[in-house]
Amino acid sequence: MHPLLLLLSIVGPTCAWLPLEDWGSGNVTASVGDSGQCTCNVFLPDITFPADRVEHMQTSFSELTLEVELEINKLVSYKEQLVILLGQLSNLTLRVEILESGPDKYIKLEFELLRIELREFEALVTQLKTSLNSSSPAFDNLYAEIRNMSRTVDQLESYDQSNLEVIRIEFAKLQKKLENCRDEQDDFSNAEIGSCEHRGILRLSKPVISQFNAHLSTSYRYGGWGKDSNPLPGSESMYWYSGFSDTLVRTITLYSDYYKLVMRQAFKTVDLYARYDYRGRGNNYIVRGNTLYYQYNNPFSMAKYNFTSSTATYRAIPEATTRFSYRYSDYQNLDFAAEENGLWVTYATEESQGRLIIGKIDEGSFALQETWETSIFKPSVGNVFMVCGVLYATRSVNVHTEEIFYTYDTNTGQEKYVNIQFEKFQDFYSYLDYNPTDQKLYMYNDGYYVSYNIKFKTA
Ligand SMILES: *[C@@H]1O[C@H](CO)[C@@H](O)[C@H](O)[C@H]1NC(C)=O
Ligand SMILES: *[C@@H]1O[C@H](CO)[C@@H](O)[C@H](O)[C@H]1NC(C)=O
Ligand SMILES: *[C@@H]1O[C@H](CO)[C@@H](O)[C@H](O)[C@H]1NC(C)=O
Ligand SMILES: *[C@@H]1O[C@H](CO)[C@@H](O)[C@H](O)[C@H]1NC(C)=O
Ligand SMILES: *[C@@H]1O[C@H](CO)[C@@H](O)[C@H](O)[C@H]1NC(C)=O
Repeated sequence: MHPLLLLLSIVGPTCAWLPLEDWGSGNVTASVGDSGQCTCNVFLPDITFPADRVEHMQTSFSELTLEVELEINKLVSYKEQLVILLGQLSNLTLRVEILESGPDKYIKLEFELLRIELREFEALVTQLKTSLNSSSPAFDNLYAEIRNMSRTVDQLESYDQSNLEVIRIEFAKLQKKLENCRDEQDDFSNAEIGSCEHRGILRLSKPVISQFNAHLSTSYRYGGWGKDSNPLPGSESMYWYSGFSDTLVRTITLYSDYYKLVMRQAFKTVDLYARYDYRGRGNNYIVRGNTLYYQYNNPFSMAKYNFTSSTATYRAIPEATTRFSYRYSDYQNLDFAAEENGLWVTYATEESQGRLIIGKIDEGSFALQETWETSIFKPSVGNVFMVCGVLYATRSVNVHTEEIFYTYDTNTGQEKYVNIQFEKFQDFYSYLDYNPTDQKLYMYNDGYYVSYNIKFKTA
């Protein structure tokens, strides 16, 4: 008989999401640390777990703690988050089914476990609700029902088969509702994917923080992440990440889907320094057609590294200079971008005296096919990205705010000064790019994976 002390340390803005009073007979204390992390100590005095089950409990709980941390750490888009919750819910359902057929002596134990996990599940949904700041009635309902269910579970005093049957049915109902929620599309982006029938960016969503970098290293301030802008069939849900403590680009890590990215379960890490020195610089790459397009470190040139054939080729842009970088990071001389119309690179030249040049790349020959000179001075720019043939340039307003301050439309040759402000999670960033397959902006924000949804002006 072991009283059990569970330590649940969750990084979150406040402890408010955790319904402390609902932890039943447990003795819970919570504290908020300097950096805003919330630590909860849960003391469950009366639970009589057999010793051989404690280990299972602890493993299970630490897995759960990790998951909670991830969930709390990020404000993932509605749909993706629900997919993850659904996975957890079907796991719980499955376990209730196992319980129903299991030997009685384990029921009380497993039931307690289930009760705790359900509480966690509820906390996740609470956090999701808070982070979404959702006023969706469907979501509010769902939330009410999950809370209701937790209470029902708490109130059950005997743990017999018929109660489990009730819970199983409730889980099944809940699962159906989550599925419905998942199918509701988040319609922040109002343009059809692939379409340029809009008049450019109206505004950006709040930053969506997905995860801390896969190396879990605060010194990995230089990097990038995102999706393939023209994925091979079967790789549509693939994500990639690259990070390092300086501006050299050594490795690219690939994940089969969003969940694997968040859980840091890669299927492949490409080492650009394994056999030959294929390393890059400056973190302004993109992945397109299972190929990394990036600034080659030596010699200074455009390069592409094909993940399928594991080889790199490079091609210099003779006019491009290494003298002008963006505001936040050195060595950002060649910046690749992909949008609805293909592949682009931006750079500055000595002749342009640091003003930004936009180049359209012919993907077949990997050569510049057309260029446009803008009037913005590259060192004053935070970063740039392209959408539908229009260049968007950002600059810093303050530590929390960035602004799209300039656009250049290569379709018309028109340039404009604009002020589309958006919130930053951290001040420093080394990567910002648009992906046409989901119309999101991806930012590597001082070690964090951040993305933005885009609201376009309607045509
Ligand atoms: C909570 O735990 C503390 C320290 O273990 C103990 O002194 C206190 O009586 C407990 N409170 C309840 C309500 O069990
Ligand atoms: C369900 O959870 C258990 C224990 O945490 C884990 O071993 C199992 O892989 C999970 N199953 C799924 C389908 O996620
Ligand atoms: C949440 O929404 C309400 C009204 O819809 C708004 O007043 C509030 O500022 C929002 N909070 C956050 C954190 O966005
Ligand atoms: C909560 O549960 C009670 C009793 O089971 C039920 O009457 C009520 O309608 C439930 N509320 C929601 C929002 O499901
Ligand atoms: C990458 O390599 C594969 C296999 O050699 C080839 O079929 C494909 O066209 C290459 N992709 C690019 C973008 O060069």
